[in-house]
Amino acid sequence: MFSHHEGVRVNQIKKMLAAPAAVFALWAMSATAATNDDIAKRLEPVGQVCVQGQACQGMDVAVAAGGGAAKSPDDVIAKHCTACHASGLLGAPKIGDTAAWKERADHQGGLDGILAKAITGVNAMPPKGTCADCSDDDLKAAIKKMSGL
Ligand code: HEC
Repeated sequence: MFSHHEGVRVNQIKKMLAAPAAVFALWAMSATAATNDDIAKRLEPVGQVCVQGQACQGMDVAVAAGGGAAKSPDDVIAKHCTACHASGLLGAPKIGDTAAWKERADHQGGLDGILAKAITGVNAMPPKGTCADCSDDDLKAAIKKMSGL
């Protein structure tokens, strides 16, 4: 029954499309690669992200990052910043408390000033807020989002 088989295929493809975009992208890459060498080459950037970063963020992030592109600020904040900035632990300015962040920024040359402090660390604030493989832009995006500045 040809039409029955077609139906099954379409369902499978629908399932693949419904899968997370990253998984789908990997599937698409390997499906179109002609040889194993090709596949290895295409996966290389993913491997590098995992090796270069201090902690491998997992396939989905590695693919989304496309070999060093920006991280999602929400991800960075959730994994690295909320630990202290959600509750104001150790005197950390709280997420969403724009006034507290603004006061710091005003005394330190604006967003770039507090970014510089976040990179080097200040008092109980660890260097890069523990996100060792964050770029300056990743940190800046996270700070913008936490501060509302
Ligand atoms: C271990 C707790 C901790 C973590 C994790 C942490 N912070 Fe902080 N952060 C602090 C504390 C405490 C301060 C206040 C430091 C002070 O002024 O004494 C602070 C201050 C800051 C400031 C203001 C610096 C200034 O010049 O006033 C920025 C910007 C900042 N954090 C960004 C981040 C980002 C972005 C992350 C996540 C990538 C992060 N922090 C993770 C504790 C933390």
